[in-house]
Amino acid sequence: MVALTETTLPVRFDSETLQTLGHYEYGKQLGGQISIAHPHHDATRRCQFSYVVEFGRRSRYRLFRVADEDGAETTIADLPVDRPAYMHSFAMTRRYLVLAEFPLVVSPLQLLLSGEPFIKNYRWQPERGLRFQVVEKDSGRRIATAEAEAVFAFHHVNAYERGGELVLDLVTYPDAGIIDQLYLSRLRAGKPVDAVGSLSRYVVPLGTANCAAQKHQITTTAIELPRVDYGRVAGASYRVVWGTGNRQPGNFLDSLVRIDVETGECAVWAESGCYPGEPVFVAAPDAGNEAEGVLLSVVLDGRNDRSFLLVLDATRMIEIARAECPHQIPFGFHGNFFPTSDGGLTLRNAHR
Ligand SMILES: [Fe+2]
Repeated sequence: MVALTETTLPVRFDSETLQTLGHYEYGKQLGGQISIAHPHHDATRRCQFSYVVEFGRRSRYRLFRVADEDGAETTIADLPVDRPAYMHSFAMTRRYLVLAEFPLVVSPLQLLLSGEPFIKNYRWQPERGLRFQVVEKDSGRRIATAEAEAVFAFHHVNAYERGGELVLDLVTYPDAGIIDQLYLSRLRAGKPVDAVGSLSRYVVPLGTANCAAQKHQITTTAIELPRVDYGRVAGASYRVVWGTGNRQPGNFLDSLVRIDVETGECAVWAESGCYPGEPVFVAAPDAGNEAEGVLLSVVLDGRNDRSFLLVLDATRMIEIARAECPHQIPFGFHGNFFPTSDGGLTLRNAHR
């Protein structure tokens, strides 16, 4: 389940035994109070990129990198902000990092004094619109800003450079009301939940400030928990996104979808009474092209009160295999594994 706190502490594992080794903590010099649910990995620069939010009289977003080799942390940029936005992920291209600031914002003073749960301190202020900030990875320079009409999103899908502009794909919602839909109490009460958004594409010109980002909807097929062939296309032009879907309105996440972002063409896997968790793409060892491999998803089988691991052909969305489990498994594939400098593995993006 998507949790709404971003005080994510990555968890370390032994890559052989899968024994939990405790939390992975960022260095104190980075400061900040909260981090983000979805760091990026840059295979070329051999590092992760992420950011923290430092609340204070002068709040700021602090972008940083963590070297694969030795875990060294380096601040890239400090971006001052008066009302920090709730951001669950950010975009990465080959050369740039992009923050999409949705107008769900918080007063740092209120956060300190209210005593309310984290997310309840945020306010939807659509008059602020949506603002993109583009930062160059290697120099830390902010090289563009752009604005668009207010939307909300949890997840960036992918982003890439195209001539003098950036293409940014996100799963968007008209407002932040989706957060209320995801409260556990509402789910337990069996109320209708449509936990899916629109696959939206924004085009942001580079080298300009405060220009308008152009937006269009890629397809009418709704999607959430998006995944791409990350090892091959992260930050680059791409064609395919997989995710969870919603065939029957109000029926939570009841299908898996594969969408061609150029044509909008969609393929679906679904089975009556089944609720798939986030799909994870695994490339074939000999893959020569994007999206050659299998898709894994832990599926809750509501008919039998148990779960199974589903293996799909990632291109045709046809079942190859399933491993039945004698009990239910909580949703929770919403994570990525990264090698650490000591030979272990770190699970990032784990929502709690
Ligand atoms: Fe997430």
